[in-house]
Amino acid sequence: MDVLHILQTNFVSIVIGVVVIILLWMNRGKQSNSRLPPGPAQIPLLGNLLGMDVKAPYKLYMELSKKYGSVFTVWLGSKPVVVISGYQAIKDAFVTQGEEFSGRANYPMIMTVSKGYGVLVSSGKRSKDLRRFSLMTLKTLGMGRRSIEERVQEEAKMLVKAFSEYGDSTVNPKELLFHSIINLFWSIVFGRRFEYNDPEFQILYKPVYTYFDMLKSKVAMLYNISPRIVECFPGKHHELFKAIDKAKAYIREEADRRLKNLDASNPQDYFDVFLVKMLEKGQPETEFNYDNLFPCVWDLFAAGTETQSSTLSHACLMMIKYPDIQEKVQKEIDEVIGSNRVPTVDDRHKMPYTDAVIHEIQRSMSLAPIAFPHQMTRDTTFHNYHIPKGTTVFPLLSSVLFDPKLFKNPDEFDPENFLDENGVFKENNGFLVFGLGKRYCLGDGMGIPRTVLFLFFTSLLQRFTFRGTKPPEEIDASVVSYFHGRLARPYTCYVKLRTPNI
Ligand code: HEM
Repeated sequence: MDVLHILQTNFVSIVIGVVVIILLWMNRGKQSNSRLPPGPAQIPLLGNLLGMDVKAPYKLYMELSKKYGSVFTVWLGSKPVVVISGYQAIKDAFVTQGEEFSGRANYPMIMTVSKGYGVLVSSGKRSKDLRRFSLMTLKTLGMGRRSIEERVQEEAKMLVKAFSEYGDSTVNPKELLFHSIINLFWSIVFGRRFEYNDPEFQILYKPVYTYFDMLKSKVAMLYNISPRIVECFPGKHHELFKAIDKAKAYIREEADRRLKNLDASNPQDYFDVFLVKMLEKGQPETEFNYDNLFPCVWDLFAAGTETQSSTLSHACLMMIKYPDIQEKVQKEIDEVIGSNRVPTVDDRHKMPYTDAVIHEIQRSMSLAPIAFPHQMTRDTTFHNYHIPKGTTVFPLLSSVLFDPKLFKNPDEFDPENFLDENGVFKENNGFLVFGLGKRYCLGDGMGIPRTVLFLFFTSLLQRFTFRGTKPPEEIDASVVSYFHGRLARPYTCYVKLRTPNI
């Protein structure tokens, strides 16, 4: 008997069997998730994936929020995800019920690097202890002998020098910015910086760069669905894992080398402070061990480099697209800073227009439309719905960043969104680019991105005017979406020297 014959004779039984399985599957979902927030009808096994642009799923969530309101459920395959949309609901969840919403969802691509250790992917006591440690250490270093501001100024000077070497040729700003920011993190974490072609510089540059390059690819999306299968196939991910193993070995060697002569009373950088905590006796539950050492370093490099270099690269592109805005920023720089000294953090308060432009770049870019996925730490009642422990939750930050009730002109690039009628800078609660609540961006908790973006942006525009390879109206200044994130569009441009280097 061939397969076709079996199918023909058992056709009715097969159809009934399939229908029963589908009904059982749907019913199972109804029983265990009957009080989940409402959401669109789902297809068995696929959930709501069919209607989704996998490169920009947040677009579907934005649409659904118009129909289902501020709390709704979407199904990613057979997994329910609760989406929280709008400023008030995000605040209710991530601030008022912050503890319940403070877990981290598990993504295989990220787990493979950190194995559940470090700040970013962990939950509960581990994330709390390591987060507190990182915040305190960065704060102490920031107030120490060489403050973060001085390090950023030094790196910004090197960046300006690197840009000036291009003369009349085109330059890819993203590449130079990424180098600079990586070096800044070398300086904060390890107390030293490198020439870009130094093999030691490459040890963390290569895995971080490859990691973000890969996050944009289809391989990363498939890896997040089925890591075991993807691992069997050749591809960039193997290159990434090799580079990560090399970086891990480097960190271990660096720790062993430093531990031999460590002066516990005088730690010099983030790495030293972590090692001092590792040496503390009588702490059986301590999170300060080798397992957490590499992931903590990785989290700072990974969370801090692409975000900031992409924002700055997009900032330069916006100056090319809007030359009148570039001119206004330069006018303010000339009036407040002049051309004979480097910009300082204090200048920001005297430069409302530039401050508004940087805020608007970040708002319109909406780099993390759903922040970094959260997970419920316990069964919770929220807005009269039941959300079980372990459910993945997305704070839809984009719904706030583009809310017409909060911003005058949310769908345009308009610095007026952050200025009052007198041209004074206006804070806006809706500026949620760094998230909200207990897992709020650790870097911004320290003011690092605000310092870095301001000092790098003003240092560049103090020295150069950015010009495109095409007229402004032909420049595509939209951002590139990749699954959960958005990044600057790659481009090349000209930098025209305005004032000589200081
Ligand atoms: C333009 C710059 C940046 C943006 C837009 C940004 C945005 C974000 C967002 C949206 C989150 C997730 C918040 C949540 O899950 O609710 C986050 C988390 C995080 N960010 Fe940033 N970030 C930036 C720069 C930085 C920098 C410079 C550092 C490092 C010093 C950093 C370190 C972290 C860490 C470690 C977390 C995880 C915190 C946790 O899980 O508790 N970020 N960031």
